[in-house]
Amino acid sequence: MQFPITRMRRLRKNAQIRKILNETYLNKEDFIYPLFIKEELKDGEKEAIKTMPGQYRYSLNDAVIEAQKLEEKGLCSVILFGMPAKKDEYGSAAYDDEGIVQRAVGLLKDETNLIIITDVCLCQYTSHGHCGIIKDDQILNDESLDYISRVALSHAQAGADIIAPSDMMDGRVMAIRETLDENGFHDSLIMSYAAKFASSFYAPFREAVSSSPSFGDRKTYQMNPSNTSEALREAEMDLVEGADIIMVKPAISYLDIIKQIKIKFNVPTAAYQVSGEYSMLKAGIDAGYLTQDSIYESLLSIKRAGADLIISHFAPEFLENKE
Ligand code: PBG
Ligand code: ZN
Repeated sequence: MQFPITRMRRLRKNAQIRKILNETYLNKEDFIYPLFIKEELKDGEKEAIKTMPGQYRYSLNDAVIEAQKLEEKGLCSVILFGMPAKKDEYGSAAYDDEGIVQRAVGLLKDETNLIIITDVCLCQYTSHGHCGIIKDDQILNDESLDYISRVALSHAQAGADIIAPSDMMDGRVMAIRETLDENGFHDSLIMSYAAKFASSFYAPFREAVSSSPSFGDRKTYQMNPSNTSEALREAEMDLVEGADIIMVKPAISYLDIIKQIKIKFNVPTAAYQVSGEYSMLKAGIDAGYLTQDSIYESLLSIKRAGADLIISHFAPEFLENKE
């Protein structure tokens, strides 16, 4: 199959030919939109997130209105991030039945048909900003599991469809599955942030939700960006522990990991196009160096790598421009 008998350019001859030979499609239902809900905000007071132009922190009711608008445009799922009015050493606002996320879940289930996913972690709720419980400047693993499971259960009780633990403690999927099952929530799904790397691309998010650790870093629990085999083991362990959906985070710099996980385990796989990936593209577009097409191309790369679901701040842009 050699030139000149084969001419690859025949496959790209015109728009119609290219259209019928297109291999990868992005669908509206692939997208999960992150919503930031801040307890202290009054309705009508949405706050622009400086490090993520075009993204906002919403009051409870405004978040619901925003979700409804997106649902009308074809969005199927949201993932919720809460910002509590008060933080403490144990992140108790994270497992408060009347907490901001718990209330948001209830309201969103009443007012929309969206699939409600909740990020389960302590870092937005702890005074020290770490994802687990601290003693003598150490992030304790097994002790943290009790708290993380309580958060997960309270989200399930509020009505969350999918629980997404992002703390990267060992054994959290098992702990959460057990807690959910003991309490009758056999049907709540777990989407595990299985391969979550200690990435510099989270910086705009930490600014957005004030969750930077007050000392040290997250490298004793989040993964080393160099490691592939370890990512595969993380995914395998989470599946054994009962994860229904495996997530890779960030996305664009970790496309190889997405692909390998999808091929090796053949399970529902999600990828998180994180804040830094969003802001980087957004900055390029705003400066006139890149175009809207760059957004589409980055999303396509994530899908092509094997992601079934894409968490992205670009979901509204995609919905707007699709068709
Ligand atoms: C913390 C958490 C992080 C993100 C979501 N939940 C990262 C972190 O601070 O380590 C990152 C999201 C993003 O950057 O878009 N559990
Ligand atoms: Zn965290």
